[in-house]
Order: sequence, then C-alpha cells, then structure tokens
Amino acid sequence: MPPRKIIIDTDPGQDDAVAILLALASPEEIDLLGITCVAGNVALPLTTRNARMVCELATRRDVAIYAGCDRPLGRDLVTAEYVHGKTGLDGPDLPEPQMLLQDQHAVEFIIETLRAHAPGTVTLCPIGPLTNIATAFNNAPDIIDKVQEIILMGGAYFEVGNVTPAAEFNIYVDPQAADIVFRSGVPLIVMPLDVTHKALVTVERNAAFRSLGTPVGIAVAQMTEFFERYDREKYGTLGAPLHDPCVTAYLIRPDLFSGRHVNVQVEVTSELTMGMTVADWWGVTQNAPNAVFIGDLNADGFFDLLTERLARL
Ligand code: RIB
Ligand code: CA
Repeated sequence: MPPRKIIIDTDPGQDDAVAILLALASPEEIDLLGITCVAGNVALPLTTRNARMVCELATRRDVAIYAGCDRPLGRDLVTAEYVHGKTGLDGPDLPEPQMLLQDQHAVEFIIETLRAHAPGTVTLCPIGPLTNIATAFNNAPDIIDKVQEIILMGGAYFEVGNVTPAAEFNIYVDPQAADIVFRSGVPLIVMPLDVTHKALVTVERNAAFRSLGTPVGIAVAQMTEFFERYDREKYGTLGAPLHDPCVTAYLIRPDLFSGRHVNVQVEVTSELTMGMTVADWWGVTQNAPNAVFIGDLNADGFFDLLTERLARL
C-alpha cells in the first residue's frame, strides 16, 4: 500500500514534537506533504520556531513548514506555557532553527494542496487548535469534499476536560473552529483525552527513549521528563500523556486503537461548558454519527512502535 499523504497541523508542544518525529520516521506509511503551524500551546512565532527545531533535530531541513493563524476565530488566544514551558518546547537544549519557513500562509497551502491532489487522497492531521483547518474550509468550501479523512487529537468525554472541567485544550482554544470541523461531514477519527491519558510515558518507557542514545532519543526523553510534571501533579499519573503521537501512530498501526462511531458535537454557547465535545456514546439521540471517537489503545504496542521508529532517526 502506498504511503498516506498527510498534512500535520500543529502547535508544538513536546507531544506535537514526538508526533512529528514519528511521522518523519515512518516513510513507508506516511508521505508528509507539509507541516502547518497554528497558535495554541504557545504563540505562533514559537510554534513555527519549535516545528523547525524538531525537523532539524531529525536532520530533515527539507520539510516544508508554514505559519498559519495566530489567534482563534472568535476568541482571545489561550496558551499553555504552564504545561509546555515558556518556549513551548522546554526540556532539551536544542539550537535555534536555521531552516526557513515557507512564504505561503498555511491556510493557502492547505487549500492549494487539497485542490492539487485527487479527491480522497490527502488526510489532515490537526494536533492543536483547529483554526487553520476551519479557516481553510471557510475560505474554500470546495476543498471539504476532497479531504480523505481528518485524524485529530482533541476533545474528551468520559475523561472530562483538562483546561476546564468540561473541555480539552485544543477544542477549548477555538471552539468555533472545532464546531466547523465536526459539522463539516469529513470522516473524523478523534483521539480524545479518553485514549491519550492511557498513553503514559512511565519511567521505563522514558528510559527506553533515552537508551536509544541518539540525539532524537535523548531529546524525546528530556521533552517528556519536562512535560510530565504538570500531569503527574494534577492527575497523580505515572508520566506524561503522549496525546498527539496517538494521531501519527493511528496512521501506522490503527489496530492499536479502538473506539466507536458516534455523534460528537461541540459546545459553542455556554461559557460553563465551552469547547466540550458531547459524544453520544450510548446512541441516545437520533443524531447521525460523524466521528470515530477513540477510547482505548494497546499502550505497550504504542510505545514499542514509537521507540522502534524513533530509533531510525
Ligand atoms: O490537550 C492536549 C492537547 O493540547 C495536545 O495537542 C497538546 O499538545 C496541546 O496542544
Ligand atoms: Ca498539540
């Protein structure tokens, strides 16, 4: 089977960085057409900096990286330095990037790429707020039907929210954008906190990264050691939840994941539950399913895959 053509839309973020590295290490399954950056974990100048640093860490200065939207569609930007550090990529001491950003705006790149490829051959993989994706759909509705699938990290249901009692960060930052994406009709695979909180970097798993002994292995170990302190303190968990790499891993080994095709809608009215992903898990409404909501993964299989692939870089 030929590799899947994808665009990663991202707000690096240590977990975003690992998702990008896993994609770069998997050319048999993934043809990365480009990386589009969005404001989220940190402001846009930092997410574009961090994306370039990660590609240079993987010695992949050939990757096309684009700057996108610097704020949500209709709300002030909320960032997460308290989780990711002031740079958004605290942990490893990586050199400032030398590679340049593409001149084209990320939204234009998304539109142009979907128009240039046969319908149903390009998958969008957003792992930050959905501002770029929704803006592309608003600016060029003709591309919506061309998207093969959207595999996104975002949302929560049984696991409830991580930034408010009801909402997960990516959806909360830009709920209007998320509503556009969830109503778009594009086939959705959703990686919510329900599954990503089961992808925990335990001490043993972190040691496996570090024992690769490569710049990538050591940097990933340093990223997850930094990134885990927030979740350890808040949830008392055994390590950092690797949210975004669940998206890339699904492209390589979908069999590691399980979920249910249900109707999922986004709260965009009440401030109390703003950004909540309301999943009709038990089918109590007549609302048509619009997303495969992933609830579980084979965590050992996930980390074996991740470690094996990172060793290639
Ligand atoms: O809630 C987790 C998500 O928010 C992840 O994508 C993380 O990188 C942050 O963007
Ligand atoms: Ca992210």
